[in-house]
This record gives sequence, structure tokens and C-alpha cells, in this order.
Amino acid sequence: MILEYKYLRALETGRLILRKPLISDADDLREWLGLEEVYTYWGRPANKGEINPELMFIDPRPHVKRQPSHDFVWGIELKKSGKVIGLLEVFDVQNDRYGKVAYRIAPQLWSRGICTEAMERVVDFIYTETALDRLEATVDVRNIGSNRVMEKCGFILEGTVRHGKMVNRFCDYHIYGLLKDDFIRANAKN
Ligand SMILES: CC(C)(COP(=O)(O)OP(=O)(O)OC[C@H]1O[C@@H](n2cnc3c(N)ncnc32)[C@H](O)[C@@H]1OP(=O)(O)O)[C@@H](O)C(=O)NCCC(=O)NCCS
Repeated sequence: MILEYKYLRALETGRLILRKPLISDADDLREWLGLEEVYTYWGRPANKGEINPELMFIDPRPHVKRQPSHDFVWGIELKKSGKVIGLLEVFDVQNDRYGKVAYRIAPQLWSRGICTEAMERVVDFIYTETALDRLEATVDVRNIGSNRVMEKCGFILEGTVRHGKMVNRFCDYHIYGLLKDDFIRANAKN
């Protein structure tokens, strides 16, 4: 649920602006966020909020007092069109030192390097401007595009779970990790 963020600020790359998604982005999100092909390897089908994105911005229980979320959710805006064509999250952030990553891009824009461009910027932000020490992702072994994104962004393949459960679906999945030390080492070489 997109409600509140502790550290979120906008980030920029050559083609993209990564920024807080707003209710005014709901029409852009509706064009792709509920599509079936986005969820082939997501571990579950699209939920109500993903099919009707305006629901993501409405707190269903406004009377419940919540702690501010420590998670990051960026909408990926394509500068050329001004549309939000992706979402990238660092979620399940624990003790300001660990978080999981997940990303989705509108299918008509797959294989143009957009997710890699966004993920590289987020990795740089996380390891230069926050205290996080580990980013982690689980990726279905059949998800070629996502496995490529992990490799291109320098994540280390740490293991493969056989017949495991990713969210609600059973599959073989890879676990990738990227430590702050890995990032510092890779940047020292460049
Ligand atoms: C995974 C996903 C975010 C990748 O986004 P993207 O913008 O297409 O990624 P990129 O273009 O940066 O990199 C993907 C690479 O994989 C390649 N690729 C993607 N699908 C492929 C396929 N079926 N066969 C071969 N190569 C493939 C692309 O050509 C690209 O190649 P490159 O490394 O030579 O550039 C996108 O496919 C998506 O939204 N999938 C649905 C949601 C999802 O599965 N998210 C990840 C959950 S772990």
C-alpha cells in the first residue's frame, strides 16, 4: 500500500525520473499495472489495487493509526512521455539495514534497459544516502528479464531454492544479494 515514506526523494537518470507515485498517476498505471503478463513470475496475480490503481492511494482504514513506513516505492516516469511506466520498490526494510527489491515495467517497454537504468540509480541512492547494508531479491528461475536485471546491476546469485514458495506460488527461484561492500568495491574499480 502506497501511503507514507520515510526517506523517499526523487531520483533522475538519462531517460527517467523516479519519484513518489501520486493519485494523478492512476490513469497511467491503469494502462499496464493490472495486465496478466506482469504477474507471470510475480508469485500471485494482480490484486484489486493493481487493477484499479486509484485504490492504492486510498487508505481503506483511515481510523487506524499507522507507523510511518520505512519502505521506498518509486514510480518510474519516462521523461519523454511524462507517464509512469514502472514501479520499483525497496520493501520489508528492517532495522534500517536490510531491504528487498521488486520492480515492474509496462510490458510494451520491456527489453529497452529501463528497469536496469532505474535499478542502478536506486542502488546508488541506497548505498550513498541510506544506512542499508543489504538488498535482496528472489527471482523465479524462468524470469529471464528479471534475472538479467539482477546480473547487470551487480547482484550476486547466492543460491537457488528448489520447489520453493514465492509469495503464493511454488517454483524454483534464485536469491540475489547486493551488499554495500559489493557496491563500494565495484565503484572503486570503475
Ligand atoms: C523484469 C522486468 C522488470 C525487466 O524490465 P526491462 O525494462 O525489460 O529490463 P531490461 O531491459 O533492463 O533488462 C532485461 C534484459 O533481459 C532481456 N530479456 C527479457 N526477456 C527476455 C526473454 N524472454 N528472452 C531473452 N531475453 C530477455 C532483455 O532483452 C534485456 O536484455 P539485455 O540485458 O541484453 O539488455 C520486466 O520484464 C517486468 O516488468 N516483468 C514483470 C514483472 C516481474 O517479473 N518483475 C520481477 C519480479 S522478480
